[in-house]
Amino acid sequence: MKTERKPQHVLVTGAAGFIGSHVAERLLARGDRVLGLDNLNDYYDPALKQARLRRLEGSPGFRFVRLDLADRTGMAELFATERFDGVIHLAAQAGVRYSITHPNAYLDSNLTGFGHVLEGCRAQGVAHLVYASSSSVYGGNTKMPFAETDAVDHPVSLYAATKKANELMAHTYSHLYGFPTTGLRFFTVYGPWGRPDMAYHLFTRAILAGEPISVFNHGDMRRDFTYIDDITEGVLRVLDKPATPERMGAAPYRVFNIGNSEPVQLLDFIRCIENALGKAAVRQLLPMQPGDVPATYASTQALRDWVGFAPSTPLAEGIGNFVRWYRAYYRCA
Ligand SMILES: NC(=O)c1ccc[n+]([C@@H]2O[C@H](COP(=O)([O-])OP(=O)(O)OC[C@H]3O[C@@H](n4cnc5c(N)ncnc54)[C@H](O)[C@@H]3O)[C@@H](O)[C@H]2O)c1
Repeated sequence: MKTERKPQHVLVTGAAGFIGSHVAERLLARGDRVLGLDNLNDYYDPALKQARLRRLEGSPGFRFVRLDLADRTGMAELFATERFDGVIHLAAQAGVRYSITHPNAYLDSNLTGFGHVLEGCRAQGVAHLVYASSSSVYGGNTKMPFAETDAVDHPVSLYAATKKANELMAHTYSHLYGFPTTGLRFFTVYGPWGRPDMAYHLFTRAILAGEPISVFNHGDMRRDFTYIDDITEGVLRVLDKPATPERMGAAPYRVFNIGNSEPVQLLDFIRCIENALGKAAVRQLLPMQPGDVPATYASTQALRDWVGFAPSTPLAEGIGNFVRWYRAYYRCA
C-alpha cells in the first residue's frame, strides 16, 4: 500500500541562484512549501536572479526572504520564527577565480554565513541539513575517479578551502548535537538558467557575438559536467534520507559526490556547444589560471548505494537544452 507523503516546509538558501531556483521549483512541484532565502547580490547580473524568482513566486507554496547569511541577528530571528522540516543550504559565494581577488566575500558568506545556518539548525533541531560542497575540495588530486574516501587536505583556492571547512563544521555539529547533515560535492553544474560566470555561458555568449573564447591550459582540461536536473533529483533524494552514522558511535554525517562520472575534454565540450549553436568558436589558447585544477571526475558509487541514483544526462542533450533556454532568455536567434 502506498503511503501519502506529508508535505514538508523547507528552507532553501540561495533560492534565486542557479541550483537553488531549480531545487525550489522541484520541491514546490511535489507539494512542499518553500521559504527561499537570498541576498540577491551582484556577483553576476541580479536581473537573472530576479527572473528566476519570478518563476517561483507564481507558486502558492513559495515565500521569499531577502537576507544575508552573514547577518547574525537576521538569521537567528528567521530560525526563531519559522519551523523547518529540512534545510537545503545552497547560498554561497561561488566561483574559484573570484576567490583570488575577493577573498572577503568567501569568508563572510561561506564561513560566517555557514556558521549561522548551522546555529539556526541546532537551535530548532532541524531534521536534516543538506548543503552544497564542491568537487574543488579535491584540489590537485590525481587519483581518478575522485572518491569520498580520498584525502582532501590540499585545496588550491580559498573557495575550495571554505567548502572543505563547511564539511568539517557540519561534522562537528552532527557530532556534538546529533542532527543529521549531508554535504553534496557538486561537479560543474550546467543547464537552463545557468550562471553567467561559468565557461559554458561565457562561451555561448562569445560565440554568438563572434568574439574569441578564452581556452585555459591550452584546452588540456577535463571536467565532469553535470546536468541541473540530475543535481535536483539527487538533492531531493538525499533530503528525503537523513544522514545516519556510518558506524557505531559515529556522527549522523555524510558527504557524497554528485557528478556525471564521465569527464569531457574541454575542446570536445567546446565542439558540443558549437554544434548546438551551429556556429564555430574563435579560440584563444591561454595558460592555466591560478586556483584551477586540470581535471575533475566523480565516483558516484556511494551516492548510488545511498539513494539509488546517479547523474547520467548526456552532454549533448543537456547543452542542447541550455542553448535553447539561452536563445529564448536573451532573445537571440
Ligand atoms: N554551479 C556549480 O557548478 C557548482 C559546483 C560546485 C558547488 N556549487 C555550489 O552550489 C551552490 C549553488 O551554486 P549556484 O551555481 O547555484 O550559484 P549561484 O551563485 O547561482 O547561487 C548562489 C546564490 O546564493 C546567493 N548568496 C550568495 N551569498 C549570499 C549571502 N551571503 N547571503 C544570502 N544569499 C547569498 C546569491 O545571491 C545566489 O543567488 C553554491 O554553494 C556553490 O558553491 C556549485
